[in-house]
Amino acid sequence: MLKSYIKGIGHFVPENIVTNDDLAQVMNTNDEWITERTGIKERRHRRDRVHSDETTATYAFHAAKKALSMAKMSAQDLDYIVFATLSPDYFFPGSGVVLQDLLGCKTIGALDVRNQCSGFIYAMSVANAFIKSGTYKNILVVGAEIHSFGLDFSDEGRGVSVIFGDGAGAVILSATEMEDHGDILAVNMHSEGKYAEELVVKFPGTKYGWSDRLLTENHGLTSKEIYPYMNGNFVFKHAVTRFPETMMEALDKAGKKVEDLDMFIPHQANLRIAQFVQQKFSLPDEKIFNNIQKYGNTTAASIVIALSEAIEQDKIKRGDLVLLSAFGSGFTWGSVLFHY
Ligand code: COA
Repeated sequence: MLKSYIKGIGHFVPENIVTNDDLAQVMNTNDEWITERTGIKERRHRRDRVHSDETTATYAFHAAKKALSMAKMSAQDLDYIVFATLSPDYFFPGSGVVLQDLLGCKTIGALDVRNQCSGFIYAMSVANAFIKSGTYKNILVVGAEIHSFGLDFSDEGRGVSVIFGDGAGAVILSATEMEDHGDILAVNMHSEGKYAEELVVKFPGTKYGWSDRLLTENHGLTSKEIYPYMNGNFVFKHAVTRFPETMMEALDKAGKKVEDLDMFIPHQANLRIAQFVQQKFSLPDEKIFNNIQKYGNTTAASIVIALSEAIEQDKIKRGDLVLLSAFGSGFTWGSVLFHY
């Protein structure tokens, strides 16, 4: 039976550290508020927020090189790319094709996934299906974001802009029949589109217009349309309900219990959400990994950066049972349960 296992993994974050005190210099916020509500102490931003050679695909490139190196593979060995991001290099085409070119892959398929904070879960689920069906053998699965270029750093945007950060992570998911290799045991994906506008960037899009409004002298665009809008309390309440549901669904499907888990990595949305889930399932500290304190919420990149760091720090070993779960804009949510 074909199994899909993580052959290589890597992550990349820009060097530029932005602390809560740095943000307090440009907007009416403070370290205490941000730490208390979110757990975040600092995040990474690309050096030049507006124009830069650093794009989402270049961050993904650095992460992918590390994953390839760990897997002892070259870009030529890849059969397919799945690229999760909400902050692509262009409105179109997607960043997957940019990465295909940067890496010098063959003319393999490159799929972009638009599922925001759940993007990496969706991307892994798609890659897993391609591998289990025998369609592809080695798939590069990426989660990458550059948020800092598109956040509102005025007082009006403070409820959102303090949360998000930049970064990328990449996994090589490979087909195997070896008994001592890991496997993805269960995946699930969910959505509830009636809440699309509770966490949203409205512009540009076919609902709120694009070139017609940009070219109009008094285009009437509001900051709520061009910057991310988040109904924070509403998102929080849904997250703490959906996280336990999707986690239990994955465990039940694989016939596993919470106690069987060696590590749980939640999407790094907010430390309070992660702590709520940890308490609900009575998970000991060594069975949950959080790094939101250092990187903020990097959306599609958050889980894969955390997974990569946990492996780097030897907190996850080959054979361990690991659960990844996410909730976010859409709303979307889901989980991936696997043996590493
Ligand atoms: N610094 C200081 N004060 C701030 C602030 C900031 N960065 N952002 C908002 N405030 C103020 C508000 O203006 C408000 O002031 P008021 O009471 O005078 O009106 C007060 O803090 C409380 O704002 P509120 O939005 O109710 O805070 P909250 O307790 O809901 O916390 C979040 C806000 C965003 C931290 C919280 O709702 C949250 O984490 N939600 C989930 C977000 C999430 O996970 N998003 C990602 C999904 S994947």
